[in-house]
This record gives sequence, C-alpha cells and structure tokens, in this order.
Amino acid sequence: PKRLGILTGGGDCPGLNAVIRAATKTACSHGYEMIGFLDGYTGVVEGRYIKLEPPVISGLLHRGGTILGTNNRSNPFYFPVKENGEVTYRDMSDKAVARLEQMGIEVLLVVGGDGTLAGARDFKAKGARVIGIPKTIDNDLAATDQTFGFDTAVRTATEALDKLHTTAESHHRVMVLELMGRYAGWIALYSGLAGGADVILIPEIPWRIEGVLKKIEARRAEGKPFSIVVVAEGVKSPEGELVVQRRVEGSVERVRLGGIGQLVGKLIEEKSGIETRVTVLGHIQRGGSPSSYDRVLATRFGVAAAELAVKGIHGVMVCLQGNTISYVTLEEAVGKPRIIPLDHELLATARAIGISFGDD
Ligand code: F6P
Repeated sequence: PKRLGILTGGGDCPGLNAVIRAATKTACSHGYEMIGFLDGYTGVVEGRYIKLEPPVISGLLHRGGTILGTNNRSNPFYFPVKENGEVTYRDMSDKAVARLEQMGIEVLLVVGGDGTLAGARDFKAKGARVIGIPKTIDNDLAATDQTFGFDTAVRTATEALDKLHTTAESHHRVMVLELMGRYAGWIALYSGLAGGADVILIPEIPWRIEGVLKKIEARRAEGKPFSIVVVAEGVKSPEGELVVQRRVEGSVERVRLGGIGQLVGKLIEEKSGIETRVTVLGHIQRGGSPSSYDRVLATRFGVAAAELAVKGIHGVMVCLQGNTISYVTLEEAVGKPRIIPLDHELLATARAIGISFGDD
C-alpha cells in the first residue's frame, strides 16, 4: 500500500495525539498506511517505528503527550551517537532520507516547534518530501495565528492562579507564578488576564522592581495586602540578563530558561517587606488532556496535512490564518519567532483594568 509517515519532535504538548489520530484516519480513508516513527527523528535514523492502525489510534483524542514519544535532542543533522561512553554528534540526515525512500514513505508529516520544523526544512533541501505541523504551548510561531497546546497551557496556568489567589488572600502575601513561554509572553499575558493577575512581567516589556512595587503598594493602600505577580520565564533580570540553567551534555552546552520567578520574588520581599512565595508551574503546563479548542485545532491540522500529502503537495507547513486552515512553505515558516507586538490590543486591555507590566 501507499504510505505516509509521521513523527512528533521537540517538547511535547497537549494535542499531539489528536493530530496523530486525525492524520491517520484521513490517510487510511484514502487507502494509505500510516507509519509512526518513534522519538522524533531518532526513529527515522534508527529505523524504529510502529504501524498506526485503527486499534492503535483508538481512544487517543483526549490523551496528553504523544504515543510516538518525542526527543528534544534528535536533530538528524547533528545526531548524538554514543561511542565508548562518550557522546559525539554526526550528520545522519542522508541515512534518514534514505530510510524514508526505502520504506516507500511518500510524505513524512513532522509535528514540531521551530527546531523540529527547521529539521523538516533541511530535509526538504535534501529532496525529502515533508509537511510540517506546528505545535508548541508557547504560541510563538509567526506563520500560524495559533498553535495547539497553547489554549490548554493557558487553562492550566489560569487554574493555578485561581488557587494561588485564595491562599495569597488568606495569608496577605504576594504570590509569584513563573510560567513558560520561552522568549515570548503569550502564556503569561493570557493567563494573567484570565486569572486576575495584578502584575504581569513579559519578555517584550522591560520592567523595573520599582514598577512592580508601585502596584503592590497601591493595592496595600487600598486595603488589599495581597498581590498576584505573573512572570514569564523569558523575562530578563533587572540587569538585563536572561536567567538560565546550564548543563553540559558531551561537548554540548544545554541552556534552559527558568529561575527569574525566584529573583522577582526575592526582590519583592526584600523591598516591600511583604511575605512572598514563588511557584514555578513548569511542565504541568505541557501535560494532561488537551482542551476542546486544542483538540479541534489539532484535528484540523492533522486532517489538512494528510490531505495535502495525498494530493501530492509537500514542502509546506499547515497553519491557521484567521479561522481558516492554510499552508505556507517551510522556508517561510521556520526561524520566525512571534513575540507580543507592543501595540497588541491585549496589552492595552490589561493596562485599562489596572494590570501593571512593571514598567511605570
Ligand atoms: O517550548 C516549550 C517549552 O515548554 C518552553 O516553554 C520551555 O522553555 C521549554 O519548552 C522547556 O523545555 P524542556 O523540554 O527542555 O524542559
């Protein structure tokens, strides 16, 4: 039979299984077989895969994560190989492209964020037939108006804020919540608005501790001795530095954002004298069952990608433009982060209801 392939790469997010299910159902209805490669590009390089038949995809719609597994480190152009206990990196892209040919995969559907999609673009340059499907909780890809996973992450963060609210109020404390989002503040802005934050710090707007304290003090003066401060992980320190955690893997340094919440909390407590606690929501934002919005978007993307593949269209990424599913070339799609524009209506809306961005 004719065959399509699919892999999920990069960090996971709610809705991946919904994409796998939708793409597989669509492919099967056109008489195609769907091959699911395991652990991102690693499965293509190493020849590890499963056949996605109807019983395998049954019951997947509401399940978080990805049944195919994923891997942040699986770049076929820079592939980690263990030799004598040491990790070295090799270009395995020829092997991966050859595997797709040998297996008769007409088109490989690559579900991922910017890094994974860059791999798909580079595969295309080698003659492979690929279609990208954008995913990330961060919502930071310019070529699509929304990624699936974002809505669920915002809901999770909003629930966390609701819970922090009640304990903040009881103890007259400042509660700081550090949220993901990489170099963009989308999760922080949306959940801060939905969860009634008093201060939202996002990477797009430089902040000063005096600005944060001004809001907290104003609330105290109004008889509200508690406050909720949302901090996106990509926010820089008052000295203008990114707060990161570094780790060396073989010869490669891995850098992860995170830790700015602690810094903000410490400054608030020191300077205001109000007891302050910091919560880092972390990977809870990526886990669990997708929201109905994300299930629908993921299903639309999965169907659209499989239909394009069946029609012989490839080298593109499916995307959402307004409320329409469309596609752009992979070259157009990759390497264009989408941060919050400073004239975004939600920033003005937040300011109108007294939310501080720590910049006044
Ligand atoms: O891109 C999704 C994301 O969760 C970011 O918000 C965060 O910075 C990063 O991935 C964390 O990645 P890891 O999987 O390495 O913990």
